[in-house]
This record gives sequence, structure tokens and C-alpha cells, in this order.
Amino acid sequence: MDPTLYFILLLSALCSVSECVQRQYHFINESKSWTEAQRYCREKYTDLATVDDMNDMNEMKKSLNDGGVQLVWIGLQKTGRDEWRWSSGEPALYLNWAPGQPERAECGMMLKGQFHDLPCSTPKYFICNHTNTGPVLIYQEKNWRDAQSHCRQNHIDLISVRNQEEIQQIKKFISNNNLSGSWILIGLFRDSWQWSDQSNSSFRYWRTGEPNNIGGHEDCTAVDQKSQGQWIDDSCDKQYPFVCHEDKLIVIRENLTWSEALRYCRQNHVDLVSVHSEEIQRRVKNVVKLASTAEVWMGLRHSCIVGIWFWVNGETVCYQNWAPRNGSSEEDCKDSVRSGAVQSGGDPLWISRPENTKLNFICRNY
Ligand SMILES: *[C@@H]1O[C@H](CO)[C@@H](O)[C@H](O)[C@H]1NC(C)=O
Ligand SMILES: *[C@@H]1O[C@H](CO)[C@@H](O)[C@H](O)[C@H]1NC(C)=O
Ligand SMILES: *[C@@H]1O[C@H](CO)[C@@H](O)[C@H](O)[C@H]1NC(C)=O
Ligand SMILES: *[C@@H]1O[C@H](CO)[C@@H](O)[C@H](O)[C@H]1NC(C)=O
Ligand SMILES: *[C@@H]1O[C@H](CO)[C@@H](O)[C@H](O)[C@H]1NC(C)=O
Repeated sequence: MDPTLYFILLLSALCSVSECVQRQYHFINESKSWTEAQRYCREKYTDLATVDDMNDMNEMKKSLNDGGVQLVWIGLQKTGRDEWRWSSGEPALYLNWAPGQPERAECGMMLKGQFHDLPCSTPKYFICNHTNTGPVLIYQEKNWRDAQSHCRQNHIDLISVRNQEEIQQIKKFISNNNLSGSWILIGLFRDSWQWSDQSNSSFRYWRTGEPNNIGGHEDCTAVDQKSQGQWIDDSCDKQYPFVCHEDKLIVIRENLTWSEALRYCRQNHVDLVSVHSEEIQRRVKNVVKLASTAEVWMGLRHSCIVGIWFWVNGETVCYQNWAPRNGSSEEDCKDSVRSGAVQSGGDPLWISRPENTKLNFICRNY
């Protein structure tokens, strides 16, 4: 182990929280159909642009030069499959509809432990999810999209109510707040749009009245610079400039030992990924799905001499997401040198593995 690493470790006793791992957007000022644009982005960058939230949207707007271009393709396309999902992006598998529900609306709310659909424009009280405190009731009537933005800015997201247990919990929570008879918005919504990179982002920024599917075949999405970058649906064969994105994290689908992976990332990208915040963990969760191994190396290393885990960029491990019984120092000094990987299927928890295990790995590009 490099002695300077220990020195860096001593210096970085404080956890840094200033993180900036946005996607990088690239505006391509050449007019192409949506499909041609998609092909171009997949060759030169990662994919046609995906937008996760308003921060991404603002980043993207910065990349668009205002050389008079009005409409610009992004990576959202209609699938024709209309599926209920949670605002978090998860598919909604357990749907406790009230009798006769859902009707035709596209957002979901809860009443007496049952789900009802309602038009997304209807303002109601709503419940956000907060990691530490659990559910938070917001006594402000907002429509579903504004409620989602509020939750994302101040908490995590609109609440998911995914099974009987969570239904009982939220029902009780609502009744404790004396709102048993009220309609309360939850994170349930449906639409039939899908991102080109298969990301589950539920962020939408439609212009009022959009998508309107004029003519019946408006299956692709463009940013309209004349209305603050809000989105419209349009025919995919129209030719517009477009925005690609480049993921700042990249999964390398080769099976290498941890040291080989580290060398690979440093030669071809910047480094193995360091996951020192929930934000980066979320990005990891998004990309790790692409891996071909059940576990994927990160830049996490164990030192028996110092008796700690550390990130290869020299940061201490503050944010953690270990699987049970993993990441403890005693356990990890029994055999060979250990390094940290993240599970690629299901919950992306961290696990400790002997460093000569051959796995896919995640490099960072920033
Ligand atoms: C994204 O959606 C797919 C398919 O609906 C699902 O299998 C997957 O678990 C979702 N991912 C996340 C992070 O919720
Ligand atoms: C709340 O957010 C956390 C962190 O994203 C997530 O793991 C959990 O499933 C969410 N819970 C609900 C009830 O939405
Ligand atoms: C609910 O109503 C009860 C009885 O009127 C009252 O004591 C309690 O403070 C109320 N709770 C909330 C959260 O408003
Ligand atoms: C890496 O290992 C996985 C699982 O053992 C296997 O499915 C995959 O084909 C391997 N990839 C390469 C490039 O050898
Ligand atoms: C670490 O986590 C994995 C996955 O959950 C588990 O299979 C393994 O037993 C854990 N390691 C130890 C030492 O318990």
C-alpha cells in the first residue's frame, strides 16, 4: 500500500459533501430525425439526453446555445405501454385500487387505504418520503408535478406505497394527522414514455397542454426553447438539432481483478468510482444494471494495517451502504486483501470481496 495514501487519509478527516456528478450534456447543432440523433449519440457519447430532475434540466439548457434554434430532440420516446409507476422510478406492482378504479386519469392518490386516480392537475395535500423521519405530510395543496418537485427539493421524493404493510403505515399516518377523510397525493403516476437509455427517470417537463399527440403520431420529445425549455411531443421523423448526454460513470463489462480494474480506469478514464454520497450512490444504482456480473468493483479498498476502509481517491468512508455483516474490519482481515464491490441486481448494497475476484467495474469520467 502506498504510504502517501495514509497521509492523504489523515488529511481528509472531514467528509466532503460538495458533489457535482451531473451528466454532461452535449448540444449537437445538426438537424436529424429522432432515430438518427439517437444513433449519433450512442456512437459518440452515451445516449440521447435523459433528464432526471430540474438540476439536469438547467444543466442542459446551459448547453443549448441560443443561436435561434427553437426545437431540440431529447431522449424521451413513447412506448405505447401505459404503466403505473412510482415517482422514484420503480414499477408499481401492488396496486390497491378502490372498487371501480382506476378510471382515465394519470396520477394517484390515497383515500382510506385505497388508491384512486385523479387528473395530475388537481391540487391536493401530499406525502413526501424523508429518509430519517419517514413520511412527511405537506399541508399545501399542489398538483402532482409541483408536489413531486417540492418533495425532491426538500425531502427525497413523493412517497411510494408498495405493499400491504406500507399501506397500513401510511393509512395510520394519515389518520394520525386527522386527514382520514381527505384525498392525499402519493407518488403514483402513469405514462407511456420511456428514456432512450432505459433510465426510469419519472421527471417530465411538458409545456401546458402537452403532450397533445396532434395527428396521432407524435411519439418523440423536443425541448421548446421558446417556452423556457419545456417539452412538446412531435413526429419522430422531423429533423431537429439534439442533445446527447455522457454519463460520468461508466460500467466496464470486462472481468478484471480489483487492481487490474483500477489500472484500467486510470488509463482509460479517470479512476474507479468513489461513492461518498447518496447522490453518487443513486447514479451507481442507475448504471450498475448494465453489468454482466452480480457484483461490480468500486474504488473501495480495505487496509488491515490501519484497520479501515477507504476510497482510492483518498476520501474517508462517510456515506455507507454496506450489506449486513459486510464492511467490518475484523471480518476483512481473515484472508487476502479485500476490496469493495456493489451488487448489480436488486438492492445495490456494498459487499467485501477478495481483491483477486474477477468482476465488472465502474470508472468515473470526471
Ligand atoms: C426500472 O424499471 C424496470 C422495469 O420496469 C424495473 O425492473 C427496475 O427495477 C426499475 N429500476 C428502478 C431503479 O426502480
Ligand atoms: C424512501 O426513500 C428511500 C431512499 O431513496 C427508499 O429506499 C425508500 O424505499 C423510500 N420509502 C418510501 C416509503 O417511499
Ligand atoms: C387530531 O385531532 C385530535 C383531537 O381533536 C387533536 O388532539 C390532535 O392534536 C390532532 N392532530 C393533528 C396532527 O392535528
Ligand atoms: C464475466 O463474467 C460473467 C459472469 O461470470 C459472464 O457472464 C460474462 O460473460 C463475463 N464477461 C466476459 C467479458 O468475460
Ligand atoms: C456480505 O453480504 C453478502 C450479500 O448480502 C452476503 O451473502 C455475505 O454473507 C455477507 N458477508 C458476510 C461476511 O457475512
